[in-house]
Amino acid sequence: QFKKKEARILCVGLDNSGKSTIINQLKPLRTRNTDIAPTVGFCVEQFNSGNLSFTVFDMSGQGRYRNLWEHYYSSSDAIIFVVDSTDKLRMPVAKEELNQLLSHKQIQQKRNLPVLFFANKNDLRHSVSPVKCAQLLGLDRGEWVRGGTWHICPSNGLTGEGLKEGLDWLSDQLI
Ligand code: GTP
Repeated sequence: QFKKKEARILCVGLDNSGKSTIINQLKPLRTRNTDIAPTVGFCVEQFNSGNLSFTVFDMSGQGRYRNLWEHYYSSSDAIIFVVDSTDKLRMPVAKEELNQLLSHKQIQQKRNLPVLFFANKNDLRHSVSPVKCAQLLGLDRGEWVRGGTWHICPSNGLTGEGLKEGLDWLSDQLI
C-alpha cells in the first residue's frame, strides 16, 4: 500500500485525544498487545505495521522532556497529529503543542514533511468539523514546515472510520 520502502511515522497529540484507540486500529491483529517503553519520564510506544514504523507519544504535560523528543523528530518521515474534536477548551493547548513541534529545529530542517491531522471523535454530537478544527489550530495561518503539506480528516477511532482516507493521503505524500 505504501510506495515508499519504509516510513517512520510519529503519532502525537494531547492525552485523551484518541491516539491509543486509533493506533490499535492500525496495528496488525497479532501485535495488538502494546509494546510500551517507558523512557526517562515519559512513555513511548513503537510498533511496525508492514513497511511502516510508528512511534506514538503524548505531548501534554511533558514540556520538560521536550529535548528527549529530538531523537524521534529527526528520524520521522511524517507526522500524525490526533485532535479530540470535542475538546474545544483544550484546542488552544493542542495548537500550542503543534506550534512547538513545528518550530523545533529538527522539524524545521526537514523538507516535505507531511502532517496528517485526525479530527477524532467525530461520532460525538458536540464535535467540531474538520474545517473548524483546522481554524482553531491555526493551520491556515501557521508557520508551516518548508515545502510540507497538511491534511485533516474526520475520524472515529472506535470504528476506524476515516483512518484509511487519512493514511491513503499520507501514503501519496511518502512516495
Ligand atoms: P492517553 O492514553 O491519555 O495518551 O490518551 P490517548 O490519546 O491515547 O486516547 P485514548 O485512545 O486512550 O482515548 C481516550 C478516550 O476517548 C477513550 O475512552 C476512548 O475510548 C475514547 N475515544 C477515542 N476515540 C474515540 C472516537 O473516535 N469516538 C469516541 N466517541 N470516543 C473515542
